Amino acid sequence: MQIEVLPLAPEQMKQKVADETQLGFGRLFTDRMLLVEWTADKGWHNARIKPYEPFMLDPATTVLHYAQEIFEGLKAYKWDDGRIALFRPEMNARRFNQSASRMCMPEVPEELFLDGIDKLVELEKDWIPSAPGTAMYIRPAMIAVDPYLGVKPGDHYYFFVILSPVGAYYAAGFNPVSILVEDKYVRSVAGGTGDAKTGGNYASSLKAGLEAKKKGFDQVLWLDGKERRYIEEVGAMNMFFAYGNHIVTAPLTGSILSGITRESVLRLAIELGCTVEERLIDVDELFADLRNGKVTEAFGSGTAAVVTPVGTLGYKDEALQVGDGGVGAITQKLYDALTGIQTGKLDDRYGWIRIVDAA
Ligand SMILES: Cc1ncc(COP(=O)(O)O)c(C=O)c1O
Repeated sequence: MQIEVLPLAPEQMKQKVADETQLGFGRLFTDRMLLVEWTADKGWHNARIKPYEPFMLDPATTVLHYAQEIFEGLKAYKWDDGRIALFRPEMNARRFNQSASRMCMPEVPEELFLDGIDKLVELEKDWIPSAPGTAMYIRPAMIAVDPYLGVKPGDHYYFFVILSPVGAYYAAGFNPVSILVEDKYVRSVAGGTGDAKTGGNYASSLKAGLEAKKKGFDQVLWLDGKERRYIEEVGAMNMFFAYGNHIVTAPLTGSILSGITRESVLRLAIELGCTVEERLIDVDELFADLRNGKVTEAFGSGTAAVVTPVGTLGYKDEALQVGDGGVGAITQKLYDALTGIQTGKLDDRYGWIRIVDAA
């Protein structure tokens, strides 16, 4: 599909951040965005890259009331040689369409998803930061824009992509975070939408997040929605626990997101000489293993969070330090291996990198 590039007037160009160490996460957006429309009669059409600006939406627009919405998150990295790299964007395209299917939305052709991102990133390349730990966060999303009140799949959708130059996701940077196992609220149940990247999952997590913050924790670790017994995932990352060189993570049972970083970490861990296991992790057993020192490291994985060490785990009235509370050796090695490939400093031996080429 032809993607039209609309002109950008000088007054529509924003000031770039001079100090890349002050970027934070998701507060600043570039000058342009991609927008493509889908209607029941025309399918996907009107693909254009246009100045970044607000949508004009009718107050009755269905997404505002019934949350028919999906999104993705990936990053572009500026390499030292000037090339721009995306990390496994085909996986995001596929997961986007799995989310679309779950939410009764039209699938976006993979080629449109990838070409649209390539073209937008290429046009906005001067916005990509290059300081260590920074990247361009790419947010593809789809919303139902029909103006009516009524619960049914839409007939009109916007697929759009916006870009945000970012630093570390957690204010602490690559430093251990504290995580509270949530035993009151649930995020998702089997048969629900937990494995789709849809806004409602995040809206329903806010209350638990606020209550955890009041107790002094950075994030919530969800348990399964039925038995409240098995470890699932954190708000924006999958969780791993190291028993020495043996690494365990929760299986993809349908109620957690199938993380692209998760899948990458599993492969890199094997390369580092670890054994890996996807299995149900009983929270009581996990806490017993933390108490007796069998669990030596804990970390999360995600596009935004990269590999984030977990220094403290809380559950009910107990808070336990993981290992020595610092960054574990395996966590550090996985962080280095992953970011090494993403930034072009290590060989892309799995074919995970897509060099942006807007031609
Ligand atoms: C709920 C949830 N789990 C896990 C992840 C990690 O997924 P990925 O590694 O694909 O970014 C994310 C997103 O980033 C998420 O929102």
